[in-house]
Amino acid sequence: MDLNGFPADPRLGRVAAPVVTTGKSHLPKPQLFQTICFACHTVGGVGGNVGPPLDTIGTKMNEDDLKAWISDPQKIKPGTAMPQIPMTAEQLDEMVAYLISLSAEYPPPCAAQI
Ligand code: HEC
Repeated sequence: MDLNGFPADPRLGRVAAPVVTTGKSHLPKPQLFQTICFACHTVGGVGGNVGPPLDTIGTKMNEDDLKAWISDPQKIKPGTAMPQIPMTAEQLDEMVAYLISLSAEYPPPCAAQI
């Protein structure tokens, strides 16, 4: 059967494996996240795509990095498109704890077989 060169070489099945996002956390989603951060970021595939998905951010940034970044992105990376979002120290703590807890679920058990 002539499939007119399909599938293409090189096979991209492994490269194109779906990114696994769980968006799960044992903590409730902070209200501030739901109303503001979601406009630009996804968790569990839901949200905006101005900034990167945050499902696995805890594997990349620790609590201190996250606090410093969220409280003043321009100070860490002048000219970044992420604005400084006013919040109380409690809201910042809640936000960082939530973001770190997301990564605790990653990778999900099935990811090893992909
Ligand atoms: C107006 C859009 C916008 C909003 C609102 C926003 N961000 Fe961002 N965020 C960005 C962009 C764009 C980046 C990438 C910044 C860069 O690398 O210059 C980013 C980066 C980040 C990063 C680092 C990601 C990485 O992989 O390096 C974290 C963490 C983050 N944002 C958290 C938040 C949180 C928490 C909120 C809500 C309080 C929020 N952001 C609100 C646009 C936004």
